[in-house]
Amino acid sequence: MRFRRKGVSAPSAVCAVLAMVAVPVVLGSNAEAAPGCKVDYTITNQWDTGFGATVTVTNLGDPITGGWTLSWDFPGNQQVQQGWNGNFAQQGARVTVRDAGWNGSLGTGATVSPGFNGSYSGTNGKPAVFTLNGTTCTGSTVPTTTTTPTTTTTTTTPGPGGPKADNPYAGAGVYVNPDWSAKAAAEPGGTRIANQPTGVWLDRIAAIEGTATSRGLRGHLDGALQQAAGKPLVVQLVIYNLPGRDCAALASNGELKADELPRYQAEYIDPIATILADPKYAALRVVTVIEIDSLPNLVTNVTPRPTATPQCDVMKANGNYVAGVGYALAKFGAIPNVYNYIDAGHHGWLGWDDNLGPSAALFAQAAKSSGSTLANVHGFIANTANYGALKEPYFTVNDSVGGTSVRTSKWVDWNRYVDELSYAQAFRQEAIRAGFPADVGMLIDTSRNGWGGAARPTGPGPSTTVDAYVNGSKTDRRIHLGNWCNQAGAGLGERPKTAPEPGIDAYVWIKPPGESDGASKEIPNTEGKGFDRMCDPTYTGNPRNQNNMSGALPDAPLSGHWFSAQFQELMRNAYPAL
Ligand code: BGC
Repeated sequence: MRFRRKGVSAPSAVCAVLAMVAVPVVLGSNAEAAPGCKVDYTITNQWDTGFGATVTVTNLGDPITGGWTLSWDFPGNQQVQQGWNGNFAQQGARVTVRDAGWNGSLGTGATVSPGFNGSYSGTNGKPAVFTLNGTTCTGSTVPTTTTTPTTTTTTTTPGPGGPKADNPYAGAGVYVNPDWSAKAAAEPGGTRIANQPTGVWLDRIAAIEGTATSRGLRGHLDGALQQAAGKPLVVQLVIYNLPGRDCAALASNGELKADELPRYQAEYIDPIATILADPKYAALRVVTVIEIDSLPNLVTNVTPRPTATPQCDVMKANGNYVAGVGYALAKFGAIPNVYNYIDAGHHGWLGWDDNLGPSAALFAQAAKSSGSTLANVHGFIANTANYGALKEPYFTVNDSVGGTSVRTSKWVDWNRYVDELSYAQAFRQEAIRAGFPADVGMLIDTSRNGWGGAARPTGPGPSTTVDAYVNGSKTDRRIHLGNWCNQAGAGLGERPKTAPEPGIDAYVWIKPPGESDGASKEIPNTEGKGFDRMCDPTYTGNPRNQNNMSGALPDAPLSGHWFSAQFQELMRNAYPAL
């Protein structure tokens, strides 16, 4: 599987961004009026390359006196050229409009109508989500009249019938998949990690019932009840079977065709939801990792980006990723002991300004589709099955060499982040700006991002050029940040750990170490898996890794199949060491 494909770097997008003015939303008092707003986005005229639009905003909440900030993301390549009744700024797809000074106060029920002329090509779609001072404009007010504490306190025990835990991992064990554990233990040296919890991948309809070689969902949940022995236990499930799966790669294409949303719903999500809702399992805390490598592809790998693939264009146009994710969130979110975490890519994919905001906005759109609401999202996960270093100890994105920023180096290439921890924490803030609840938490998959061993640098690189400095400093030894398949030189990362850093619910091992990302050559199979040359060590790359060598290990089996040589290398290069 997987990933990463950043969009093309965007030095030209490095322009001033207006600060967002957030009006604090005070929860917990009956006296407060709720914030709320309504937006009417009208295209007033349109020609083949341009258009004019008026954005009428109505404040439905308390009077706003300190100025307002309105923002949205364009669904296409629209560019604001000239605006009025507000100060317009655009970065990537994100537009931010601040009041013009004279219209900075908005009484309850008052309306303001900024307008602009813009350019576009292709389809001039309307933005789906607008926020006013950080509040998503739904056309009604956000109820704040109930006395909801902003953070979950531990006065009630989460569990059957109780509220969801703020962090499901807090005070809980995590399920060890016996099937993975047995394979790990059978490897020389494998018992050192065979008792670690790893993700259970429901990667096809048949995985729900189980196959001859792997137990089904009930089998896992029954096993979890045994491991729990009456104490809180988290079970980590990967929901991974969207129609037209893995549209930017071939190694993990799935069984459902691009238009098979009805089958996804009826034959995949519904049966899983039925099992999870069985009262027998109510005491388990079920973490669902929702559809990795799906929504971000609709931001970074679609026309007009040079990284576009025809399959991702299809999935964007038919809406089945968005509808499928919304459906899964709605079904699972309704079950009291299930915690949904949406896959949020990783820094080497979404860490560019052009990709981050639009991805968060698209996640919000998906979370509000198919009958779902934002409240169905408990958090997000970064780095699933990828190799991005958790922390880069020897350089930061703010460093420069001789006055030149490391952001100009080949490796960083204008990215805003150099590691997964800083990325995950920033993504969390971006998600909140996009309307998600302020208490969303992040997970980081640290199963294979360790980068230890003899090749690991022990200090910063030489301060001769930015490239020499970054290449000498970075612990992530990949040839290119966009490489994703069975990376040579990688090691096991941080062991699973609860609440390791602010905003992070847990480090988790979602990709089971030892399971391949994809075959190094064509292998006929009945799993729908294609051959992606990013898994072939002789491949010289594509636009998504800027035509670099793939960096993949040789002789890999199909994705998901056991790859002993990789397992051994991951243990050898573990960081922290085993
Ligand atoms: C594969 C899945 C597998 C998962 C975990 C993915 O790349 O497509 O079949 O379950 O990796 O190893």
